Amino acid sequence: MTTPLLSVRNLAVHFPVRSGVFGRMTGAVRAVDGVSFDIFPGETLGIVGESGCGKTTMGRAILRLVEPTAGSIHFDGVDFRALKGKALRAMRRHLQIIFQDPFSSLNPRLTVGTTIKEGLLVHRIAEGAAADQRVAQLLDEVGLQASYATRYPHEFSGGQRQRIGIARALAVEPKLIVCDEPVSALDVSVQAQVINLLQDLQKRRGLAYLFIAHDLSVVEHMANRVGVMYLGRFMELTSAEALYREPLMPYTQALLSAIPVPDPERKRNRIVLAGDPPSPAHPPAGCVFHPRCHHPSRDAACAAIVPPLEEKAPHHWCACLKQPPTIVPWGEQQRAGATHEPARHLPSAAMHSAGSLPESPAR
Ligand SMILES: Nc1ncnc2c1ncn2[C@@H]1O[C@H](COP(=O)(O)OP(=O)(O)OP(=O)(O)O)[C@@H](O)[C@H]1O
Ligand code: SF4
Ligand SMILES: [Mg+2]
Repeated sequence: MTTPLLSVRNLAVHFPVRSGVFGRMTGAVRAVDGVSFDIFPGETLGIVGESGCGKTTMGRAILRLVEPTAGSIHFDGVDFRALKGKALRAMRRHLQIIFQDPFSSLNPRLTVGTTIKEGLLVHRIAEGAAADQRVAQLLDEVGLQASYATRYPHEFSGGQRQRIGIARALAVEPKLIVCDEPVSALDVSVQAQVINLLQDLQKRRGLAYLFIAHDLSVVEHMANRVGVMYLGRFMELTSAEALYREPLMPYTQALLSAIPVPDPERKRNRIVLAGDPPSPAHPPAGCVFHPRCHHPSRDAACAAIVPPLEEKAPHHWCACLKQPPTIVPWGEQQRAGATHEPARHLPSAAMHSAGSLPESPAR
């Protein structure tokens, strides 16, 4: 078994809610509420979930761009949360981020060359002519002309700007890149080009990605494993292959059923998610998904017991009381008012044909 590059345990980020003239803390937005996962060298872990479920906050917390409220982050065996000052800056070199909006993430007053060079100088990787040469190589690596180094961000298209953002991240030779919806703001035709570029770079450089997306169809082509987030928690975590073949979590089933397929029968089978996700300032008790859940065995126990994220099949983790097996005893569920025993529910609307799936990782 390979050693993880990144190990995150019980990570939480709670933002204080203040009110009144004295700005007293009256509550908290539980943006990330206890997530645990590993990322292995060279692997892509996809993260999906609806808007506001905490994807960006989690990605930023891993880089400590947002300070976590609780939990641990180990990177390359080092306790990343314990680092300060110089040691923190030095370690940051190995963890980079690419943002959703490539325009606002680039300084409009700096040339592309200066932006890319910044990391090289800060981390003393190259200086002077060697740094300029490195910038030219990086631009070439992301499919841009070396002469673009003297131009400004506004002179480029969205796709080109995202390539510049990728070159900036690559400059410091990271091991892991958090890709926060890097193609969501781009035209569909350009999305595929940027995804192909990220995949080529991964192969060439052995990079690991935490790839955040709204849309399960984007991560299907990118990820080895996928984590499904809801209200700051992981609801399901498994290989991309298992997730698309046999999604166990009712929330994942609903997301998968919404991916358009050419078959009109399948469209009619779409599982509609009722209402909007609840506020992370007031998450529902028990299973946070229970107000919207379509599982036929959903009952009073779902509103009372927090389902543990448990291994339902080898390497297939899911947080649902009603998808067997579960370590939550039936007696305990009954004491919480349960009327329906756990029973496997796999609606056909959620099942996808195996043809278009990425290869399953060996682990
Ligand atoms: N600085 C902040 N202060 C207070 N609340 C915040 C802050 N940043 C994010 N939040 C809240 O935390 C929750 C998670 O936000 P986040 O941006 O991480 O979600 P997301 O999954 O990335 O959403 P999207 O898909 O729209 O990008 C939201 O309810 C958001 O309003
Ligand atoms: S625990 Fe209950 S409410 Fe939550 S997903 Fe499972 S069946 Fe649905
Ligand atoms: Mg986001």
